[in-house]
Amino acid sequence: MKSAAALTALVALLPAFASAQSQVWGQCGGIGWSGATTCVSGSTCTKLNDYYSQCIPSSQAPTSQPPASTSVPSTPSSTSAPSTPSTTPAAGNPFTGFQVYLSPFYAAEIQSAAAAITDSTQKAKALSVAKVPTFTWFDTVSKVADLGTYLADAQSIQQSTGQKQIVQIVVYDLPDRDCAAKASNGEFSIANNGQANYFNYIDQLVAQIKKFPDVRVVAVIEPDSLANLVTNLNVQKCANAQQTYLACVNYALKQLSAVGVYSYMDAGHAGWLGWSANLSPAAQLFATVFKNAGSSPFIRGLATNVANYNALNAASPDPITQGNSNYDEMHYINAFQPMLKSQGFPAQFIVDQGRSGQQNLRSQWGDWCNIKNAGFGTRPTTNTGSSFIDSIVWVKPGGESDGTSNSSSPRFDSTCSLSDAAQPAPEAGTWFQSYFETLVSKANPPL
Ligand code: GLC
Repeated sequence: MKSAAALTALVALLPAFASAQSQVWGQCGGIGWSGATTCVSGSTCTKLNDYYSQCIPSSQAPTSQPPASTSVPSTPSSTSAPSTPSTTPAAGNPFTGFQVYLSPFYAAEIQSAAAAITDSTQKAKALSVAKVPTFTWFDTVSKVADLGTYLADAQSIQQSTGQKQIVQIVVYDLPDRDCAAKASNGEFSIANNGQANYFNYIDQLVAQIKKFPDVRVVAVIEPDSLANLVTNLNVQKCANAQQTYLACVNYALKQLSAVGVYSYMDAGHAGWLGWSANLSPAAQLFATVFKNAGSSPFIRGLATNVANYNALNAASPDPITQGNSNYDEMHYINAFQPMLKSQGFPAQFIVDQGRSGQQNLRSQWGDWCNIKNAGFGTRPTTNTGSSFIDSIVWVKPGGESDGTSNSSSPRFDSTCSLSDAAQPAPEAGTWFQSYFETLVSKANPPL
């Protein structure tokens, strides 16, 4: 419930919103919207659905609304507007004071994996992984209904124990997803109604979240997408996807913020955006995306090292880091955060350490697929050693593959058959038993 003081603060903000024009990709109308209804020059206010009109660059604005996809169920109709945050944004770390909800999906994967392990010590260690909070990936629209089940479960745990729950999700269904690689290519394509399908995917997530206003949700937004826009526009598929990614991420951030979800946009890792030539353009891009989405305090910051293998604090630079002064995530974040802040984005971070237990495993820093001999890493904690880092987290569910090593698969990426990649590996996202068993035995700290 909102406090009177918070309401007064909100009302005080309204005239400022009402008098301004919305930026390109900003919201300009929809049920419950009380901000600007006109767009800056060069963009046109375009109705996307009853809840959301957006300033689309005039060159791209459709003359009529795109037809709803036939392959995706439409959003359940609702009479209440989604634009009232379910909670007043906390001033600080959204993880503080909350217990992280354990994903039943991952727990089930762990249960069946442990059942296949005969050594009783290893089996017990494997089972203990189910108690480590890990993000749940919504990588297809068909999985979104499960979110309602998890939120209902979290709500009942909260009610019965009095311990507040936070549910961790990955929003991961952009059209032309994984534009610079192949292993995680997704279900939507830009050429085939992808943007409208994506908006519908977000609407469905939001519809579930709205039903459980007392459960806190934290989201990682679209792994790799914006980082690809910083460094991979030379790849045709990324160049072609640029405007769509921006429009989709803008929509996701605005809609999720409106229902009180704390978002962290994916920001690659030290060996990607942490190079000195990439930091400044990256800061520029993330700050622009933040501002275009309304600079909401629910857009809490950035997630790094998602599904990657870098240490937060490396004992010494891995030789593959080739003299990059930002040779681990802590150095990357310490270099990046002040740049973001000076661009108007006071970003906080979360850092994936799920598979970072062992170091110096790779032949090249850019290798990312099922790295051999990786071990589970530091457990999730808000005791991060940095005021810039809200929490160490496990985003990639360890044991799920990064990509297939089968060269005849349409999603085969040659990175998954390099000599530092464990093989034979199944399709991305599917269970990779031998890989999981190695993560367990090489865990550091040990399980
Ligand atoms: C990969 C897969 C995706 C899966 C995720 C987590 O990115 O493409 O399907 O959900 O990893 O394992």
